[in-house]
Amino acid sequence: MAYGRVLLSIFVVSLFLNTEAKIYTRCQLTRELLKNNFSRTFLSNWVCLIEQESDRNTSALVVKSSRRKYYGLFQIGSEWCKEGRKGGKCDISCEALLDEDIKDDGNCALKVFELEGFKYWPKWVARCKGQLLPDIEKCPDWQNPPSRASPPRDKRTAMARGKRHITRRVRRGRRSVRY
Ligand SMILES: *[C@@H]1O[C@H](CO)[C@@H](O)[C@H](O)[C@H]1NC(C)=O
Ligand SMILES: *[C@@H]1O[C@H](CO)[C@@H](O)[C@H](O)[C@H]1NC(C)=O
Repeated sequence: MAYGRVLLSIFVVSLFLNTEAKIYTRCQLTRELLKNNFSRTFLSNWVCLIEQESDRNTSALVVKSSRRKYYGLFQIGSEWCKEGRKGGKCDISCEALLDEDIKDDGNCALKVFELEGFKYWPKWVARCKGQLLPDIEKCPDWQNPPSRASPPRDKRTAMARGKRHITRRVRRGRRSVRY
């Protein structure tokens, strides 16, 4: 009984910790982009763009002025979102571009790309265009694309290893169930 309570509070605390920034590794990022409808053709360009723009940090925020801010993994500018409520060209709240859920970020970035191309992102132009792009072909998910609903590869392994392992992950402040 008491043990259950301890586990529950650890779980609740971990939910709060999850509002913090997530820093993806290059291969985790590859996986997330594949899961979110990014085509393989331009994937290494997207990975380069994200590495240059945000260091793969989902919470990256750059404030140039009160009206010019850039949000999240893709450093999407404030004209595409609205502070505090849905709006802008992506019909999304800017805060939603700073959390760990990158599905909405991805959809918005694809919209930016559709309307403006990669040239929207100055760091893509300066550091990715025509340059050697990140080598993502060694990433396991490049070889075996993830299904859109499957949990992350490391979580799958954790499940296979059993409950004790998952409990430890919860204690470290990670989500044990993501989807
Ligand atoms: C990917 O695209 C399909 C078809 O356009 C759509 O139904 C699906 O919701 C999209 N998935 C994501 C994660 O945006
Ligand atoms: C991620 O970005 C946030 C907001 O800019 C920052 O506070 C945090 O230190 C960054 N994390 C890392 C590891 O760079």
